[in-house]
Amino acid sequence: MMTNESVPGGLAGRPPREQSAEAVLRPHAEQENAGELKRLAEHDDRPRPPGWRLSPWAVTLYLLGGELPDGTVIGPKYVGPRRLVEVAVATLATDRALLLLGVPGTAKTWVSEHLAAAISGDSTLLVQGTAGTSEEAVRYGWNYARLLAEGPSEKALVESPLMHAMRTGAVARIEELTRMPSDVQDTLITVLSEKTLPVPELGTEVQARKGFTVIATANDRDRGVNELSSALRRRFNTVVLPLPESAEDEVDIVARRVEEIGSALELPESPAGLEEIRRVVTVFRELRSGLTGDGQTKLKSPSGTLSTAEAISVITSGLALAAHFGDGVLRAADVAGGIVGAVVQDPVSDRVVWQEYLETVVRDRAEWLDFYRACREVS
Ligand SMILES: Nc1ncnc2c1ncn2[C@@H]1O[C@H](COP(=O)(O)OP(=O)(O)O)[C@@H](O)[C@H]1O
Ligand SMILES: [Mg+2]
Repeated sequence: MMTNESVPGGLAGRPPREQSAEAVLRPHAEQENAGELKRLAEHDDRPRPPGWRLSPWAVTLYLLGGELPDGTVIGPKYVGPRRLVEVAVATLATDRALLLLGVPGTAKTWVSEHLAAAISGDSTLLVQGTAGTSEEAVRYGWNYARLLAEGPSEKALVESPLMHAMRTGAVARIEELTRMPSDVQDTLITVLSEKTLPVPELGTEVQARKGFTVIATANDRDRGVNELSSALRRRFNTVVLPLPESAEDEVDIVARRVEEIGSALELPESPAGLEEIRRVVTVFRELRSGLTGDGQTKLKSPSGTLSTAEAISVITSGLALAAHFGDGVLRAADVAGGIVGAVVQDPVSDRVVWQEYLETVVRDRAEWLDFYRACREVS
């Protein structure tokens, strides 16, 4: 019989794929920051809630960044009001679940991943909410071959990430909660109020171990798609993540993330390009708020969100352009296409908004001439 080994060009003929963590495109937060988390645990002598890897104090320090007594610097993951993070962490230390609410790109997913990594050391117990999310994805499903052969049994049961989190006393993450159909959302009510997940087919239940909790995220703009039922809402403490307050904060977030992403993608080193970042952030903030930075000119806002996350991807693509097709320095021409693409989501109405902004605001800024020209070229 021919085995894989003997097939010319078969799998065995290929060079082995690199399996090390380094070759992973996007390591989980707990992998990426394993060193920091270990250090934090070593220095953390405050009381830890049952099932937690770190104390609430250390979790907050991990999220917001700071310095340990031995001088180890913890990089900030989230840039925003300290109080919000404290409220979020304190919530998780009680028996209530946490709902992170906000417009797209305000780091809801990001914060939820890092919270789960810091609290349970595992951010992967994730249920993604979509219009097609089924009850099985939230509760449990069956391995049908086994179910047919052996009937319902523990072995035939396929647990959901939520069930696994309950069994192991970990944080379960639910992304885009309000995109799930309401009846599927309601599956969570028993889990959150009784901390148990009944399995009627086996006549058993899974009781959550200490440390189990849920972090859900939901989009402000989705409100009305599938309203969160009031019964479920009562089980969550809601924390609203805001857009960055000042332009400086936003530039700081973008610069930091761009550097991290750039080094993860191994983009050739490029000089910071802080000036371009500032420009992208300015354009986004002005269009978002409908007012120029000096408060002088009213603007129409385009339909897109123009969030920090989008600014990050505009700059990252710009860096790749500059590195591979330019002279390695991020220039106006490298970000112009990305900006126009982010602003002009609706080809008709947004284009009008953009043209108006370009001609009434950008053109008049003497030091933005290169940017104006680059945008004219791609608009
Ligand atoms: N205040 C912030 N602090 C740190 N990073 C931020 C902030 N706002 C946005 N980001 C970045 O934006 C990116 C996208 O955020 P994400 O969590 O996907 O947004 P959401 O889930 O709210 O739509 C993340 O990579 C995150 O680093
Ligand atoms: Mg998200």
